[in-house]
Amino acid sequence: MMAGMMMAPRIAAAKAQENLSRVDALIARMTIEEKAGQLNLMNDPFRWRPEGINPGDTFDSDQAQTAADIRAGRIGALFNGVGAASTRYVQDMAVKESRLGIPLLFAADIVHGLKTTFPVPLGEAASWDLDLAERTARAAAVEGGAAGVHQTYAPMVDVARDQRWGRVVEGAGEDVLLNNLFAIARTRGFQGDDLTHWSSLVATPKHFAAYGAAEAGLDYNSTDMSEQMLRSVYLPPFKAAFDAGALSVMSAFNDLNGVPTSGNKWLLTDVLHGEWGFAGFVVSDYTSEQELIAHGYAADGRDAARLALMAGVDMSMKSGLYIKHIPELVQSGDVPVERVDQAVRRVLMTKAALGLFDDPYRGSDVRTERRVTGSREHLDLAREAGRKSIVMLKNEGDLLPLPRTGKRIALIGPFGADKTDVFGPWSVFKDMALAVSLEEGVRAALGDDAHLTVVKGSDVEAPLAGGIEAAVLAAGDADVVLLAIGESSEMSAESKSRTEITIPDAQLALAEAVAATGKPVVVLLRNGRGMELSGAVNGAAAILVTWFLGSQSGNAIADVLFGDHAPTGRLPVSFPYKSGQSPFYYAHKSTGRPSRPTDREFTTKFRGVPNEALYPFGHGLTYAPIRYSAVTVSSPTMTRDDELTVSVTLTNGGERDASEVVQLYIRDRAASITQPVRLLKAFKRVTVPAGASVETSMTLKFADLLFLGGDLTPTVEPGLFDVWLAPSAQSGEPAQFTLV
Ligand code: BGC
Repeated sequence: MMAGMMMAPRIAAAKAQENLSRVDALIARMTIEEKAGQLNLMNDPFRWRPEGINPGDTFDSDQAQTAADIRAGRIGALFNGVGAASTRYVQDMAVKESRLGIPLLFAADIVHGLKTTFPVPLGEAASWDLDLAERTARAAAVEGGAAGVHQTYAPMVDVARDQRWGRVVEGAGEDVLLNNLFAIARTRGFQGDDLTHWSSLVATPKHFAAYGAAEAGLDYNSTDMSEQMLRSVYLPPFKAAFDAGALSVMSAFNDLNGVPTSGNKWLLTDVLHGEWGFAGFVVSDYTSEQELIAHGYAADGRDAARLALMAGVDMSMKSGLYIKHIPELVQSGDVPVERVDQAVRRVLMTKAALGLFDDPYRGSDVRTERRVTGSREHLDLAREAGRKSIVMLKNEGDLLPLPRTGKRIALIGPFGADKTDVFGPWSVFKDMALAVSLEEGVRAALGDDAHLTVVKGSDVEAPLAGGIEAAVLAAGDADVVLLAIGESSEMSAESKSRTEITIPDAQLALAEAVAATGKPVVVLLRNGRGMELSGAVNGAAAILVTWFLGSQSGNAIADVLFGDHAPTGRLPVSFPYKSGQSPFYYAHKSTGRPSRPTDREFTTKFRGVPNEALYPFGHGLTYAPIRYSAVTVSSPTMTRDDELTVSVTLTNGGERDASEVVQLYIRDRAASITQPVRLLKAFKRVTVPAGASVETSMTLKFADLLFLGGDLTPTVEPGLFDVWLAPSAQSGEPAQFTLV
């Protein structure tokens, strides 16, 4: 046993050494153009031929050019081409027809599933379930690997505190700890236990770094922040992903403190490799090295290639600048060949780690692909992930769950029968045939004698002629209305920033008209961000946040609506009262004039709006009321060597067992660098049986109290701390202790 445990690292080290010798021998034989080729990543133009390429098929000009470049060793990697048949065909060109036979690396944006689509990452983060995230990433990797993919451009680990930013939907929300933990879970899921296995994908945390801090939430916009902030909030999820083994990273689009990230040597080399010892390679985001010109950082394409390469971008995505300029840059002495070799070594070592030199096809074949893609197992997982991602914001009069019989239901809104918007953004390879609409999910749950009327009522962003009238009639004839409203996929993700994070006016008008019928309304919100909910929407008796839940969307929502699954999700982002509060996030600093609900003037708040969230980070109800007792601590003091036990009693006043996410927050009352008003340090899921009380405890360690001091090293100072065990970032009373 002992011997076996000792052997594994030695074998891994021996294999790494063997890979290195192999790679270096290869580099010694490469021309400078072949080296530049390994750093050149292009779109896969064969991607829409999942059935493969047959003898005699003709190529379009893009395909012909790509084929010629692959054969000449001028392309080392392709992205967003999937399918066992076509990737095999293209890999053959590289392996059998190029001079050195170096296999291609196939990458793809497998963000929340391939053909089977899981909830968007923000939605899944609402599950606060790390095991679930690891399992969905694994399933996505299984489908991706079988389709010939080796690397995924995920997880997206950008902390996103401004809900106007469209890309909030791609990550784990506004909190650092949640982003760290989901980064780890997803990296593990994608990469699996053995990177050489066909079902393992190299993970690529993105977008390095601080892309989520874009000014005004405007995509691609500049970021300017203290190093303190950068290292405390935006870098930790990347570090967490690397510590979990992520072997690649994508540099971002944004300017950071005056140096665009894709040309930022301090970030891409000094911090990444120097401080953190990162072992993988950096890929630029789509043409981001070329964009150094538009940023006003590089003079021309040649300059952009030089700056990006010397900063630490190893592989260039799509721009073609590396293959165009590297040979001449080296010849002129403007780039040392050693830097090119270093980048090539990083890329080839990743190919070796994937086992591509031993099996360039890594076992991907059409039969495996057919067997695992959209399998029953994956669809069941999508349904589980879907229902666990739903967050119940309110449930007046216990309107939910609905009984299966005896109620006439009107399903109203643009997302009732819709099948295209269930997947959400970044579902590049989805299988539309797998979509379950809300209507289908509800019908399946109700059975044949369902009293269900479905009326669209409005388009997503425009009124529909006669829509409101039809909706009001349907509502009038019903006992309860399901109002399926919100955002379309087109309204969130890349370049989809919004000035107002509201429900579009046409749908608000629909909501008001339906509410005026006096019938009880359940809002089923489809959304890719934290939103402002107002008027009849917020006035509805019940609200479920259903994000974009993926292939099994309708079934997952029905599971919650009819009570087969009691809601367990919690918000990973704040829902502010008003768009104008953006960026609103719970872990903000205190000002010198903090506002309290009773305060009027000359305190920190916008006119007429509390300086709070309407629905705070961490909030989420279930089908039983849970009461928290006062929080207690095991000791009024703590030393560097102690741990503190923090306890609370939860009482379930309902008739169903409940699963509660208990959240531990702290506040450092006085520190040499001011600290957030609350900061999540841990959380735990606790089952509270119906009618019962359960005491639960969590441990606070000395390490939890550390913050980055003025000298940017982790520090802690004696003094008073607040500690909460609470159901959200905006509830509960703290206990206190003193660090001595
Ligand atoms: C996005 C990346 C993505 C890449 C490749 C870019 O526009 O910013 O997140 O991985 O395209 O599709």
